Amino acid sequence: MRILLGVSGGVAAYKAVLLLRLLREAGHAVRVIPTEAALRFVGAPTWEALSGEPVSAEVFDDVAHVPHVALGQGADLLVVAPATADLLARAATGRADDLLTSTLLTARCPVVMAPAMHTEMWEHPATRANVALLRVRGVHVIEPASGRLTGKDTGAGRLPEPEDIAREALAAVAAARAPQDLAGCRVVVSAGGTREPIDPVRWIGNRSTGRQGLALAEAARARGAHVTLVAANLEIPGADAAADTVVRVESTAELREAVRAAGADADVVVMAAAVADFRPAAPTEAKIKKVPGQGPAPIELVENPDILAELVRDRLRSGQVVVGFAAETGDAAGGVLDHGREKARRKGADLLAVNAVGAGRGFGTADNEVWVLDAAGEQLVHATGTKRQVADVLWDAVIKRRG
Ligand code: CTP
Repeated sequence: MRILLGVSGGVAAYKAVLLLRLLREAGHAVRVIPTEAALRFVGAPTWEALSGEPVSAEVFDDVAHVPHVALGQGADLLVVAPATADLLARAATGRADDLLTSTLLTARCPVVMAPAMHTEMWEHPATRANVALLRVRGVHVIEPASGRLTGKDTGAGRLPEPEDIAREALAAVAAARAPQDLAGCRVVVSAGGTREPIDPVRWIGNRSTGRQGLALAEAARARGAHVTLVAANLEIPGADAAADTVVRVESTAELREAVRAAGADADVVVMAAAVADFRPAAPTEAKIKKVPGQGPAPIELVENPDILAELVRDRLRSGQVVVGFAAETGDAAGGVLDHGREKARRKGADLLAVNAVGAGRGFGTADNEVWVLDAAGEQLVHATGTKRQVADVLWDAVIKRRG
């Protein structure tokens, strides 16, 4: 793919260097278009060396090739990261006072902007209005992360991590190109990992970040589905862009209620969330204190309902396709697929996506390997690739199953 990486003048420009590397390593040709101000933070040699392409902030360089038109016309994706308040304002008003803003006017490909600025600037009505206008015009504006800003401040306005920007940007291209084969289909996807409270400050949780669930929601939405995302403690941004409706939950009980409520009129329910099998029997209202000299108090656990098994049993809507996930490590009793087959038969979901986790696989990683089994444990398809690619393969299987 031919990607234009616009960089405007904020301290977070250094993170765009990492974004550039990621995009190049993923095999894309990237041309960097910094603003003059961006070049005060990271110089042209860095961009040129890492992109392997010439770099200019000016429309008056290389005029013979009319770069502001040629670059925009030839691009498959234009990402601006960081997008400063000034860049957003100039883009919203259609200014063309440097190469980046001029290119923004000539590009007809998906445009993704990742704002980064101080919280006050991000929250200012002028910036809010600019972002709203850009979104109405079809620009995909990524929500900034919250956290440490330049200096001592913390708050909303931080540039998201380069991996997350890359993922959202590439998802925007996939969305623009996706077949609309899930149009009219209502889907519910649960994602993330549940937290079972021990006391007001502690919980039992798991390592799920929500990446695969989010990728499933994004893929379905891109293919035309109406998506409800039941998000359990996601550790990555992007939930709001991935779904028509986002229901945020913490515990298994909340997740169960949300999935069942949305599932009542869904054609497909995908349980990609890592759900805790057990929860503390009696979470305390006050924080549990350490009593010197006494060992830890035991925590009694009780079993959680199996939401997936209930969905299979109850079939909330006729013809509903129920999809489960099985995160397996394999052990002395059998390999990943052996456990997956056994789980497919036990759970009875129409489709079960079995994936290998542990030791750098599965949780928190960008890539995934999945076997899709039917309710009898028969393998339908084996998929490897990014979580988005795996998501698309799974939706293909769902469409086939729906017939
Ligand atoms: N699941 C669920 N409710 C639970 C536990 C799991 O709906 N209480 C769902 C998960 O969302 C996933 C599938 O069941 O789609 C399999 O989850 P997993 O934890 O792998 O299966 P378990 O039945 O808990 O089996 P085990 O932990 O013994 O491997």
